[in-house]
Amino acid sequence: MTQDSPQNKPATASEPRDQSRAKLWGGRFSEPTDAFVERFTASVDFDRRLYREDILGSQAHARMLAKVGVLTADEAERIIAGLDAIRDEIAAGEFDWQVGREDVHMNIEARLIERIGDVGKKLHTGRSRNDQIATDIRLWLRAAIDEILELIRGYQRGLVDLAEREADTIMPGFTHLQTAQPVTFGHHMLAWYEMLDRDAERLGECRRRVNQLPLGAAALAGTPYPLDREYVAGLLGFDGVTRNSLDAVSDRDFAIEFSAAAATLMMHLSRQAEELVLWTSAQFDFIELPDRYCTGSSIMPQKKNPDVPELVRGKTGRVYGHLTSLLTLMKSQPLAYNKDNQEDKEPLFDTVDTLLGSLRAFADMVPNLAVRRTNTLAATTRGFATATDLADYLVERGVAFRDAHEVVGRAVRLAQERGVDLAQLALEDLQSLSGAVGEDVHGVLTAEGSVAARKLTGGTAPEQVRHQAAAARERLAAVDGAAQSAT
Ligand code: ARG
Repeated sequence: MTQDSPQNKPATASEPRDQSRAKLWGGRFSEPTDAFVERFTASVDFDRRLYREDILGSQAHARMLAKVGVLTADEAERIIAGLDAIRDEIAAGEFDWQVGREDVHMNIEARLIERIGDVGKKLHTGRSRNDQIATDIRLWLRAAIDEILELIRGYQRGLVDLAEREADTIMPGFTHLQTAQPVTFGHHMLAWYEMLDRDAERLGECRRRVNQLPLGAAALAGTPYPLDREYVAGLLGFDGVTRNSLDAVSDRDFAIEFSAAAATLMMHLSRQAEELVLWTSAQFDFIELPDRYCTGSSIMPQKKNPDVPELVRGKTGRVYGHLTSLLTLMKSQPLAYNKDNQEDKEPLFDTVDTLLGSLRAFADMVPNLAVRRTNTLAATTRGFATATDLADYLVERGVAFRDAHEVVGRAVRLAQERGVDLAQLALEDLQSLSGAVGEDVHGVLTAEGSVAARKLTGGTAPEQVRHQAAAARERLAAVDGAAQSAT
């Protein structure tokens, strides 16, 4: 499948080949790349997504080359202006991406030389595509993390609003998906908030390790040019420069770490998705999702399907898969750069796209759900949710907890036989089970009494939920303030 067009005829060492089709690295080759191999090894179809970062990195590199005297100021200016024009071409959809030019780097560099002539050939001085791609992905991932963090915070703000709105709403809390104890809906929403808070923290920590500049590592060993790496880091907003050139061109654990944080975040969203799906079913009927987030059935007219949470639950799988892909990609790779690393981009891109889409949907859908408060309360009275409260009541009146547990177990059996809730058992019935039962016993058998009593830090009482929601709101405002002053 070798190409045999006249343009691609093999060149000899003394005879320069046709410039328009020549590879930027073509000097040592005596025959053109096999057409299939060219397509097989090319990454431009996906890495062109990095064009803005690639151009930013090149412009900083050119500026620095002028600063240290490798380029003249005029040469650097022409390169920078040429790259600006190329960015506009790409943004306008007018750029001619060529598979023969392999990747985003060489497409842009070849176009630069076409536009500004020989001076464009000086851009790649003291640089390799190995440190260039490592720089591009880090810049790209840093921006992606910032976008994800903003969406997480938006969703968290929505959850806090919802938690305050539903601070008094009683619902059954579950363990083993069996009714356990009454909780408040607001408390449940703040549990979701906490999951996301740790996700944001993990991503923020990962960002610090992403934000290191590899440029200067060159192919793998560094470069003899007197590059000012700290200057480039400053121009590109990196926190520092990588300390080992071999590591800098080969390391992708920043991407793995990001993917692990992403997988954890998706795991959290999948848990929330699952609860939303359950709660919208006729059997629970706890909530209603906004119509704009649901779809109907083509055959069953009554259906309103929770497609969005279902999809988010399903998409979690691909993010787990990408984490596994990246771990496997890096497994056993010898130092330094290997072409394998080209395979890091598609999993990473898809992970970010999936996270952004899922968060965007949840941030609008969840805070706008409607709670069916009568149903959640009614469900609470069906599963003996206040049994523990009755045991606690007996303990307060001198019964040992194990004995109290036994008494309440018998009370539950009695209620079950009669088809009633604990609160509906008569005082005499309860007293026949334990002499410690007083006339005030029904006070602790209501769900309202049960939740109100749990007002310690982190408890489910409406008063505590309001307190936690206010504190969460303050923390979110502080993060926003810090982000504002950083820009
Ligand atoms: N397309 C490559 C990648 O994604 C860029 C670096 C290629 N370097 C090389 N020496 N072939 O990793």
